[in-house]
Amino acid sequence: MDPDSFKDFAKEMAEFITNYLENIRDRPVLPTVKPGYIQPLLPASAPQTPDKWEEVMNDIERVIMPGVTHWHSPRFHAYFPTAQSYPSIVADMLSGAIACIGFTWIASPACTELEVIMLDWLGKMLDLPKEFLACSGGKGGGVIQGTASEATLVALLGAKAKKIRQIKQEHPEWTDNEIVGKLVAYCSRQAHSSVERAGLLGGVQFHQLDVDSKSSLRGNTLAEAISQDQEKGLIPFYVVATLGTTCCCAFDNLDELGIVANRENVWLHVDAAYAGSAFICPEFRYLMKGIERADSFNFNPHKWMLVNFDCSAMWLKDPTNVINAFNVDPLYLKHDMQGSAPDYRVCILINLIINIIISSFKVNTLIKSFFLIVLKIFNRWRIVVNYLASRYLILKLQVSN
Ligand SMILES: Cc1ncc(COP(=O)(O)O)c(C=O)c1O
Repeated sequence: MDPDSFKDFAKEMAEFITNYLENIRDRPVLPTVKPGYIQPLLPASAPQTPDKWEEVMNDIERVIMPGVTHWHSPRFHAYFPTAQSYPSIVADMLSGAIACIGFTWIASPACTELEVIMLDWLGKMLDLPKEFLACSGGKGGGVIQGTASEATLVALLGAKAKKIRQIKQEHPEWTDNEIVGKLVAYCSRQAHSSVERAGLLGGVQFHQLDVDSKSSLRGNTLAEAISQDQEKGLIPFYVVATLGTTCCCAFDNLDELGIVANRENVWLHVDAAYAGSAFICPEFRYLMKGIERADSFNFNPHKWMLVNFDCSAMWLKDPTNVINAFNVDPLYLKHDMQGSAPDYRVCILINLIINIIISSFKVNTLIKSFFLIVLKIFNRWRIVVNYLASRYLILKLQVSN
């Protein structure tokens, strides 16, 4: 494709996107196609000659749209909200053009530098304790993960490495395998499935604990579970508190859980994937009381904060545990500036490192385009809409019963 065709194609695509989004309400939310619908619409093998871009455009309505579930329709109320906005779409275009891999500072300094600043901006917007922010000059800082599921696993692996090191100091004769066999983590029964899966991937036991009448995990429940497990010779090392559960947006009692976790020397990770954006508004911050006792915190700008998937923001008070758990240091990645700026490859799980530029630039474009006050209003509006939608569903269920 030559540059002029690219410009025409991109203009046509921008036209299509605005038409699609501005009229999305008119499309049926759920497609009526049956499994295998797309196969007869496409050739059996890749074409030998190129299609014109106009033909590719035609395929959008002919092939793709009949099978799309329109998550951004105002009539879509399934699962959870996923974000999208014009500034974020445009930022994706530039990221696609730069297409660099920012795995170390020197591999593309803008990636690292922008990510550090964006995570500080975001952290300040949520009023996170300064220990989580790079600008405080301490150890802490943020990193953009692809998803909250990765953040939970990254924190678990950091906690696991930290606890193994501690136990080895007390019992140098124990092998890693002996220690790992005794490790146990905790979350509420209401925690997202990715939390349980992090336990499976990390090869450790996960205990799901009962919640109170408000679906909240309380400190005394955690304390009891820890003491029972210690009596059995197990080693508690990690607890996940959820702020905004997927099922019913319940909030674990972070204040109480933090006291127990700190006392027992257990890593406390906060999964605020779903509802964390609400903390931009000061009136909801009482729900994160006790955040200063957490070791790591995560929320998804790609859910409520208008940043397109994927962009999951994670902060660590002391990233050295995660760095020690993941660090491999091949010769070809070494550079003169090592140590003067973070090399984010050591804090992310999968080599989806392209994320680094895409996501921090998306966050930057989004915040600059909307301003904080608009984001606050958007979050308040979201909460009112969600509340009304849930009241409507409850009423409907009551009527149908
Ligand atoms: C509370 C909570 N945690 C974690 C997740 C998983 O998020 P992700 O898809 O970014 O891994 C979700 C998704 O809905 C969620 O609601």
